[in-house]
Amino acid sequence: MYSIEIKASGGSYPIYIKNGLLGEIGSEVKKIYKGRKVAIVTDSNVNKFYGEKAISSLKSEGFETFKIVVKAGEESKSFETLLQVYDKLLDFKINRGDIIIALGGGVVGDMTGFAAATFLRGIDFIQIPTTLLAQVDSSVGGKVAVDLPRGKNLVGCFYNPKAVFIDPFLLKTLSDKFVCDGMGEVIKYGAIKDKGLFYKLMEYENSEAILKDIDKIIYTCCSIKAGIVERDERETGERMLLNFGHTIGHAIEQFFNFKEYSHGEAVSMGMYAITKIGEELGMTKIGTSSTIKDILIKYNLPWTLPEIKTEAIIETISHDKKNIGDFMNFILIESIGNSFIGKIEEAKIVDYLQKKS
Ligand SMILES: NC(=O)c1ccc[n+]([C@@H]2O[C@H](COP(=O)([O-])OP(=O)(O)OC[C@H]3O[C@@H](n4cnc5c(N)ncnc54)[C@H](O)[C@@H]3O)[C@@H](O)[C@H]2O)c1
Repeated sequence: MYSIEIKASGGSYPIYIKNGLLGEIGSEVKKIYKGRKVAIVTDSNVNKFYGEKAISSLKSEGFETFKIVVKAGEESKSFETLLQVYDKLLDFKINRGDIIIALGGGVVGDMTGFAAATFLRGIDFIQIPTTLLAQVDSSVGGKVAVDLPRGKNLVGCFYNPKAVFIDPFLLKTLSDKFVCDGMGEVIKYGAIKDKGLFYKLMEYENSEAILKDIDKIIYTCCSIKAGIVERDERETGERMLLNFGHTIGHAIEQFFNFKEYSHGEAVSMGMYAITKIGEELGMTKIGTSSTIKDILIKYNLPWTLPEIKTEAIIETISHDKKNIGDFMNFILIESIGNSFIGKIEEAKIVDYLQKKS
């Protein structure tokens, strides 16, 4: 079993990574939680595959379990769903000494984490991430949120879990689309911080070879994220590097109302675009964007920008960014594995987007 301890201001918490860990979840939870009641929040897809497995392992250790199943998909990261979850927690008479488990992808993790942070002014929770994106990214670092009709993640807070239990075997049932999506984030870690990881990803022959190594890959990504969030828990500096590709990516997601492109796909296009812009401005080593393009193609991720209105993108980007005069902050890479926060003139971004559209 791989384990990582994340030091956080409110106390440290562990991440455990082991194939087959879900089957042992009862005994693992018992080591860190002395109460009896456990509420599990999951979504309709994950429930079909893993709901009973989790419950039976917990029951075998004497826990009293309550399951809350929400609809699968981003729509569940909403206040409507949150109210339903609070309601069920009240029905089950969950109180402050009890614990909530988020069993699912980033949607369940973010929404359940926010429910845990706010229900009865805060109750402990555990993350059991079930998508690649959630295993390498969203379950680590304590950002929890729900969406508003006017935008994603607009209401949320920092609330760390008691522990994160990662079972890479759960990825066997994940659709190829969501595996590729998560690979977008894995590639991001390589691009911003770990040249070795990046070039290793370039070498894998096929998805079987990657899956064989996926526990190590997840461990590498979680270690990178753990280091970053330990040094900058509240995202005032280094943690912003994790947003490489995300500014243009978010604008693409938003422009298409989150329907056309998944998060990983949009971030992939964003990583290529900002690297190309970086090269054109002499901030990124020439040839880096072509390396990024090669790896995105290898992992079936898009790299060219779709047809979008430049003004709409700029409008979204300006909301997203702290603008300083006509300049905007972006995450750039100097070369593979070396990232930094750079200032780019709005006009340069407009130029690039216009050339592409
Ligand atoms: N908190 C953070 O730091 C952070 C970071 C990145 C992304 N996010 C958030 O994460 C969310 C996206 O997460 P996601 O991509 O995991 O989406 P998701 O939770 O919607 O999961 C994707 C799909 O896969 C299904 N699924 C999940 N696990 C499965 C499994 N093991 N087998 C079969 N199907 C499974 C789900 O039901 C869903 O249909 C977004 O809301 C994003 O804002 C948060």
